[in-house]
Amino acid sequence: MECPRCQLALPAADRLCPRCFPDTAAEADDDAATTVCYREPVDESLSAEELELANGAGCRLLRRLGRGGMGSVYQAVQISMDRPVALKVLHARESKLKQRFLEEGRAAARLNHENIVQVYDVGLSAARPYLLMEYVEGQSLTELFASKTLELAQLLQIARGLACALAYAHAKKVVHRDLKPSNVLVSKQGAVKLVDLGLAKRQDAGGVLTGSGTMLGTPSYMAPEQARDPRNAGPAADVYGFGATMYSAVYGKPPFEGRNAVELVQRALREPPRFPRWPGVPENLIRLLQVCLRKRPSERYPDGAALLASLERVAGGLVPSDPSRRMSVAANLELWWVAGLLSLALLVALAVVAC
Ligand SMILES: Nc1ncnc2c1ncn2[C@@H]1O[C@H](COP(=O)(O)OP(=O)(O)OP(=O)(O)O)[C@@H](O)[C@H]1O
Ligand SMILES: [Mg+2]
Repeated sequence: MECPRCQLALPAADRLCPRCFPDTAAEADDDAATTVCYREPVDESLSAEELELANGAGCRLLRRLGRGGMGSVYQAVQISMDRPVALKVLHARESKLKQRFLEEGRAAARLNHENIVQVYDVGLSAARPYLLMEYVEGQSLTELFASKTLELAQLLQIARGLACALAYAHAKKVVHRDLKPSNVLVSKQGAVKLVDLGLAKRQDAGGVLTGSGTMLGTPSYMAPEQARDPRNAGPAADVYGFGATMYSAVYGKPPFEGRNAVELVQRALREPPRFPRWPGVPENLIRLLQVCLRKRPSERYPDGAALLASLERVAGGLVPSDPSRRMSVAANLELWWVAGLLSLALLVALAVVAC
């Protein structure tokens, strides 16, 4: 069976052609014929299966935007709303993973912030989980960093948008868990948008390295505690991801590299990151990144709000705060209290003996 209009091979005889049906619907209806989104050209390389999947999600595909560890992302049009969307279709077919993805997608859909890509819908199409979200016309940080056109003012603006998104998400008890350059989009108008928030990719406990030594996902931007066990990923793991992403912006590479995943993880777990002086990058910003990239989560900024507050200091030319310094001051204060109480007890004891 093939479509009489575009000759696309159709998987089922009783289905409308996923490539043509919005147009044929538009031809039949004068009002709908004025629609703009349907008029955009469709990428010819899209397979019938992909078009069919999108059809099940109420979308018409335009082009493939990329393929990550979790699934494929497409630029599409949501037919009911006639609006541009990005459609993410998951590779996973196991029911446990599917269920979790749908739950996390629903939790993400409850978030509403100018620096977070809005999730519109989640569901199943041809037994594959999908997520429908706001389409951001622009570039990911991966592309922006590669173009080497980033200036300090723009970098600080991106960092601020990202920290605002994290502060909001953490206040709502949502952790990103996979913060990296490809998950940060910058629109043509310069708006910063965090994507894939709260969608867990690594469901299994025991770290990013499987028993056979193969790796689940890329750990270049992953906090050490999360690399050991994904269940450890709390807000401070996102602060690490933020630090690693900004490190990439400054130095053109992530804080750790390796010939293979095992070497990379070992380095991230054991070695301190290197911060060579970099022309045009203020010392205060480097200090902030040093705090973000500490191995122990308790020595980093605890969450997005604390990170944002420290970033505001950097933008204002001040020294960023340092949680570990505050901790040691607190620890010292505690010691003074203990010493004071002991001295008092000694004095009382001496006075009793003297009497
Ligand atoms: N809402 C969106 N609007 C526009 N482009 C998007 C959107 N979501 C994702 N993209 C683009 O699609 C590409 C693929 O995204 P995807 O999330 O599948 O890959 P990834 O981020 O590299 O891997 P991962 O699966 O680990 O998140 C990204 O590089 C990004 O630029
Ligand atoms: Mg992604």
